[in-house]
Amino acid sequence: MKCQERFQEIYKREPEAMAFCPYRVCPVGAHCDANLGKITGLAIDKGIHLAYSPKLNGVVELCSLQFEKRAQFHVRDVPRHKQGDWADYLRGATLKLAERYPLTHGLSGVIEGTLPIGGLSSSAAVTLVFLKALCQVNGIQPEPLEFILTSMAAENDYVGVSSGKLDQSCEVYSKKDHLLYLDTKTDEYELIPTHPGMKPYRIAIFFSGIERTLTGSKYNMRVDEARSAAYAMMAYAGIDYGKFSEANLRAVPREVYEKYKERLPENWRKRAEHWYTEFDRVELAAEAWRRGDLETYGRLSFESGQSSIVNWETGSPELKTLYDIMCHTDGIYGGRFSGAGFKGCCMALIDPAYEQSICEQVTKEYLQAFPQLEGKYNVHICESANGLI
Ligand code: GLA
Repeated sequence: MKCQERFQEIYKREPEAMAFCPYRVCPVGAHCDANLGKITGLAIDKGIHLAYSPKLNGVVELCSLQFEKRAQFHVRDVPRHKQGDWADYLRGATLKLAERYPLTHGLSGVIEGTLPIGGLSSSAAVTLVFLKALCQVNGIQPEPLEFILTSMAAENDYVGVSSGKLDQSCEVYSKKDHLLYLDTKTDEYELIPTHPGMKPYRIAIFFSGIERTLTGSKYNMRVDEARSAAYAMMAYAGIDYGKFSEANLRAVPREVYEKYKERLPENWRKRAEHWYTEFDRVELAAEAWRRGDLETYGRLSFESGQSSIVNWETGSPELKTLYDIMCHTDGIYGGRFSGAGFKGCCMALIDPAYEQSICEQVTKEYLQAFPQLEGKYNVHICESANGLI
C-alpha cells in the first residue's frame, strides 16, 4: 500500500501496524438519523487505510496522501476549538476518547483513502480508523457502540456537523453480504443476510467530479428545519418538549403529523414529509431484502432519492443529472445520492451482467451534460464488506 511506502520514506522503518475502516452507502434511510429514524446501509470494500506506529511521548503525527497539511498534536493537549482542517476529526476524536479513558500514547502514521472524497462518509471513516489505532496503542478496547458514539460526538461537538449515527454505524457494524438495519433511536440493529435466492448485485459509485465537506453545506439547516417541524407539532399537540436541540420527529407520532402538517411552513412540512415517508420505505426495504427481493429494495432506493430531491431539497445539478441517468439505465435496480447529497457521488445497486453497458451509458450521458468534468468524474464498482469491528 502507498501509505506503508510513504511511512517507510518518512520514518525509515516499517509501520508497526495497519488499520482499515470501510466507506458506507445508504440506499434507503437517508436524512433520518439526526431525527432518530431507522436506516439501512452497507459498508463497501473501499475505505481508509492507516499505517502507523505508537509514539510513547503522546504525540500524534499523521499525514494524509489526500491532504497537504500534516496533523500534529499531543493527546493531552488538544486545542479546545476546531482549527478548520481535516485533522479536526482526529482532534475531536482524541478529546472525546480522553473524556472516558486516560490517554498516554500517541502515534505516527500515514492515511490513505481509496476513493475520491464526498458521499461515502470518508469523514467518519478517517475518525474511526484513527480511533481504532489510538485505542490500540493505549490498550483500550471499546465496545462497537462506543466507537460509534465517540466518533459521532467528535463530528457533532468539535467539527460542528449535526449528523446522526448512520455513517459510523454502517462503517462499524456492517458485515459482508448482509444489510444493516438499524434503529438510530434505540441502537437495536440487525444484519440481514443476503437471501440465497437473491439476484447478484454490485455497488456502483458514480463520482460527480465535485468534492465536498458537510461544513459549509445546508446540511445543518435541513436538520434544524426538521427539528423545527417536530418542535412546532409538539407544541400544537400539547406534547411535552425540552430543549430545541433535542427535538426530533421520532417523538412526534405519525397521526400528529397528519393532523397538523398543513399548519407547518411549507419547507418544514417537506422535511417532515421526507422523514415520515422514508421511515416507511426503510421498513419495507428491510423486508424486501429479507425475502431476497432486490427489485423492490432498488425501487425504494430510487424513491428515497426522489424524495430527497423534492422534499429534503438536496442535490446539486450534477447529482440530480446522475440520478436521472441512473433511473433510465438498464441493469440498475435502484440508487440515489450517496450521503447528504450536496456534492460527491451517487450510488446504485447494479446487475453485474450489465456492468459494462451501465458504466458506458452513465459516463456518456453525464459527460455530455457536464463536459468540463471529464477527468474528474469517475466510476467505481464495489462489493459489500465487513465493518471496522
Ligand atoms: C451524512 C451524515 C449522516 C446522514 C447522511 C444523510 O452522511 O453524516 O449522518 O444524515 O448524510 O442520510
